[in-house]
Amino acid sequence: MQKRSFLHAALAAGVVFAGSAAMAQDSTFRIGLILPMTGQQASTGRQIEAAAKLYMAQNGDTVAGRKVQLIVKDDTSLPDVTRRLAQELVVNDKVNVLAGFGITPSATATAPIATQSKTPEVVMAAATSSITEASPYIVRTSFTLPQVSVALADWAPKNGIKTVVTLVSDYGPGIDAEKYFKERLQFNGGQVTEALRVPLRNPDFAPFLQKVRDARPDALFVFVPSGAGAAVMKQFLERGMDKAGIRLIATGDVTDDDQLNDMGDGALGVVTSHHYSAAHPSAANRKFVEAFGKANKGMRPNFMAVGGYDGMRVIYEALKKTGGKGGANPSGDALLAAMKGQIFESPRGPVFIDAQTRDIVQNVYLRKVEKKDGELYNVEFDVIKDVKDPGKTK
Ligand code: DHB
Repeated sequence: MQKRSFLHAALAAGVVFAGSAAMAQDSTFRIGLILPMTGQQASTGRQIEAAAKLYMAQNGDTVAGRKVQLIVKDDTSLPDVTRRLAQELVVNDKVNVLAGFGITPSATATAPIATQSKTPEVVMAAATSSITEASPYIVRTSFTLPQVSVALADWAPKNGIKTVVTLVSDYGPGIDAEKYFKERLQFNGGQVTEALRVPLRNPDFAPFLQKVRDARPDALFVFVPSGAGAAVMKQFLERGMDKAGIRLIATGDVTDDDQLNDMGDGALGVVTSHHYSAAHPSAANRKFVEAFGKANKGMRPNFMAVGGYDGMRVIYEALKKTGGKGGANPSGDALLAAMKGQIFESPRGPVFIDAQTRDIVQNVYLRKVEKKDGELYNVEFDVIKDVKDPGKTK
């Protein structure tokens, strides 16, 4: 409570951090990167931190004459902690940008702070459609679940899948995935016969999978957040669901590049839709994957890493555009304006930050798990170009 009233009082007194005289003397540009570095979402934090550091190593830590400082904080995926860290970063560290946000509740908990302090909030991971509506200062470089789920609901009925049971984590992105997959599948003449939701924290998939086995749909559609996919795959195979003729289809969060290669050959043939695969066959991606591996003991980047890498790109380019004048840092409003409308080639393919929605427009790929050079990859076999978040048109 005390910290909150301090922030409110400071804001009410007109202490606009970015424009104050003290800031003019200190031209360091600070990025507060709040990530889950421990706990259930730790792989998200590890991937995004590594990607942000790679971006800085490749592009230097001086931009438009400003020294760029990255301040990494671990929120352990608890939104109350995210909010407290965001307040401290704005008030004490005087960050110019807040970034990161491993899960939806962390991104939305920070939104009021971004709005009140006029600090851009670059969401690099969280993917519930409505996040960008929580503050006009939010810009997203990850993806949305509606964006990737619809493509799979178009693919499934054309490939012999008419009845589907959905299984999602019971919070924002899962509910988005369930809703948009179901609506589109029904529109295409298919049917969701049962919609199951599993808790986000410490999920036990066994009782849910037993239900799916008994229901005998053509396929099981799954969304779980990054880091939980391997457990789903293991239990799916252990229960012999594939042998019972139930296909597994999912958003790419399940066949996460961070875990895929350890899932075993049982994962072969699983079809998913997503915006990034480490196997994306472009020169830009090959360069990215190689540099990321080199800097991180062979680690393969996943879609979280790409959200972080591109988020840094959006921040750097905004600073280049606005930071070159007067010896002072740009205002949050100027930075935000320069983030909107950026178009560039990401390792995932061409992307665009829609100026109206501040959300990312990107290609969505259909992929199948295949073995390449002895390793499991999500190999892209179809693309839907320039997909906007369908959640924004409702
Ligand atoms: C979210 C988190 C994830 O790890 C993911 O893969 C998708 C969405 C989220 O909380 O928004």
